[in-house]
Amino acid sequence: MTDLLLLPGDGIGPEVTAQARRVAEAVAPDLSIAEALFGGCSFDAHGTPLTDEVLAAARSARAVLMGAVGGPQWAGAPRDRRPEAGLLNLRAGMEVYANLRPALCFPALADASSLKRHLVEGLDFMIVRELTGGIYFGSPRFIEDLPGGGRRAVDTQVYTTAEIERVARVAFQLARGRRNLVHSAEKSNVMDSGLLWRQVVTDLHAREFPDVRLEHILADNAAMQIVRDPRQFDVMVTDNLFGDILSDAAAQLTGSLGMLPSAALGDAGRPGLYEPIHGSAPDIAGQGLANPLASILSLEMAFRWSLGRPETADRILAAVVRALDNGARTRDLGGDLTTVQMGDAVLVAL
Ligand code: NAI
Ligand code: MG
Repeated sequence: MTDLLLLPGDGIGPEVTAQARRVAEAVAPDLSIAEALFGGCSFDAHGTPLTDEVLAAARSARAVLMGAVGGPQWAGAPRDRRPEAGLLNLRAGMEVYANLRPALCFPALADASSLKRHLVEGLDFMIVRELTGGIYFGSPRFIEDLPGGGRRAVDTQVYTTAEIERVARVAFQLARGRRNLVHSAEKSNVMDSGLLWRQVVTDLHAREFPDVRLEHILADNAAMQIVRDPRQFDVMVTDNLFGDILSDAAAQLTGSLGMLPSAALGDAGRPGLYEPIHGSAPDIAGQGLANPLASILSLEMAFRWSLGRPETADRILAAVVRALDNGARTRDLGGDLTTVQMGDAVLVAL
């Protein structure tokens, strides 16, 4: 049985995933690791971004580490066979409905004069985004011509109690291991799906998690508070659309896109899907300029949440902190290390 399935993907995906693989081999030589084609490279080889074989392999591995998929060369592929469609199908096929996006500012980067940007020192919060429901998946969904001229586009937001409950449960459980605070963000003032969201979270809280502090917050206010005072948050749970936007906003408080990992989890005992939040970065692909830390930190989350080795995760995290403290910086962090040299820096720190 495969412990860790690597899906390096396209663009910088293979470059950063190779560094995560080196780290995995160093900290867990006993781990069985496999690799498969996914994304544009799979479309080129098999005419589809996600073959049935690869989906089956992903479903039966203990954890999947993805690189990134997509790029301009596949923009003309049929919509249902674009690399991005493969990613939606992989998430849906693995039934990973809770997307964990940590916003963590490393102390070494807090004085980010090299980034010419203000980062939030001491920031450490986690957005839990619902990943397999909501408006990105709802039907009906279409664009049509109107009889009187002009056109009309329709997207549909659908959430069931079961979908809301299972993602909220992940958020409450996470909070118990952190600062015991959950903010639930929706728009219950103007959306029925928001109203149901608030009711379900409130009921679940009373039933299973009365020890955790729960705050409801309107999603637009959440956006404002993330910019104004993000340190007030511990765990924030929200739907697919709001989570997409709020987690990108939170990401900007932490440094570079090249630093940000993510996890997508399903039911307990099912494999998680781990990936950097960045894309395939065609502008720097093949040049050895990509920062591999997002991939290495995604591996760290895999050890923590799917592979049952939290001590190994702690070791990886500590090594990344040490490498940054030692001044290791790729170009996106204002330095001049290559992708492989940043991998070296983490291995030395290990
Ligand atoms: P992107 O994240 O690939 O790149 C945005 C900018 O950040 C670029 O300037 C890039 O050079 C830089 N960047 C990204 N990752 C970096 C890293 N590790 N180190 C240093 N710099 C880094 O987003 P973009 O350009 O919008 O999308 C490019 C392609 O990636 C598109 O085809 C898009 O669909 C796909 N994409 C795939 C995702 C995934 O596989 N989960 C997520 C986002 C985009
Ligand atoms: Mg996004």
